[in-house]
Amino acid sequence: MTQTDNHADDIDSHTGMHTTGHEWDGIKELNTPLPRWWVNILYATIVWAFFYCIAYPAIPLIQSFTPGVLGWSSRQGVNDDLAKLRAQRAPIVAALSNASLQEIEQNPQLRTFAIAQGKAAFGDNCAPCHGAGGGGAKGYPNLNDDDWLWGGSLDQISETIHHGARAEDDQTRSGAMPAFGREGMLTPKQISDVADYVRSLSHLPMPQGVDLTAGAAVFEETCSACHGEKGQGNQDLGAPNLADAIWLYGSDKNTIVEGLTNGRGGVMPAWAGRLDATTIKALTVYVHTLGGGR
Ligand code: HEC
Ligand code: HEC
Repeated sequence: MTQTDNHADDIDSHTGMHTTGHEWDGIKELNTPLPRWWVNILYATIVWAFFYCIAYPAIPLIQSFTPGVLGWSSRQGVNDDLAKLRAQRAPIVAALSNASLQEIEQNPQLRTFAIAQGKAAFGDNCAPCHGAGGGGAKGYPNLNDDDWLWGGSLDQISETIHHGARAEDDQTRSGAMPAFGREGMLTPKQISDVADYVRSLSHLPMPQGVDLTAGAAVFEETCSACHGEKGQGNQDLGAPNLADAIWLYGSDKNTIVEGLTNGRGGVMPAWAGRLDATTIKALTVYVHTLGGGR
């Protein structure tokens, strides 16, 4: 600055501005002042920052930070919001935990709330196996269709979710498809014949001239006890309907032969100990609405 003052009379002839007096190889440095409005904003932000640091949590200390005289905290803000939400929801949550599944089904307000809760819990716990929308995958049943391994009534769905299937739970749904090939109960020829017969039950395309009589005989003797005379399935045993063109594992012959050879027994975990009763209720109502629940 002093230099500028010393050279106050040093005016640049092209621009008419003062120069700082610095000169390098004939190039002079202009001394253009900052605009007034800019400087005022700078001072205003400094004053603002000063009062902000006093009012709000601001300066880091070794263990914590200066709390600010207003006592504001972002965590307190979230906690207050959550507490408000819980208080708002308390009556309907209580109503949900006291109502039976049938009562929820008949009360539109409760039902809507249960579906919303159930959908959220489904995304957290069930989607990894059953897909985000319950669409399923090989070995993991589609919950959107009207086809149920263990039954699609509210009570049946509730029991499946509580105790699972082939899970570590005393009351789990049990029973599996035996490994007919590996255990030597059927020969490879019998397995091939009965696989063709099973495919014929849902009218799948078949190589010309396949004789289904041998397969039909094997089916009647070995399979009908679980899957039913006509392959219609049995929900008490979790034995799928084999005549409805809906497949848990797949309809191609190789997949069917593989199942007959090595057996099948998908595991659905039991949720009784892991989710609270109200959440399971909400899940039951949600799953029931997904796929033409019965
Ligand atoms: C680890 C994977 C896995 C998870 C997680 C899982 N399931 Fe399952 N679920 C299965 C399998 C496998 C089956 C089929 C069992 C069988 O083959 O009998 C099944 C079957 C079911 C069925 C019976 C379907 C029918 O057709 O009868 C329902 C209902 C069900 N699951 C709901 C749920 C809900 C609700 C959740 C979340 C709380 C859930 N599942 C989480 C694997 C899973
Ligand atoms: C002890 C009862 C039982 C017997 C006997 C039995 N099954 Fe099964 N079968 C099941 C069960 C239970 C499942 C479902 C397994 C699962 O959910 O993982 C199944 C699944 C299947 C599937 C898979 C269906 C799909 O949708 O992917 C086919 C195919 C099948 N069985 C065919 C047969 C044939 C053919 C026989 C006779 C050779 C037979 N089963 C005998 C219980 C049985």
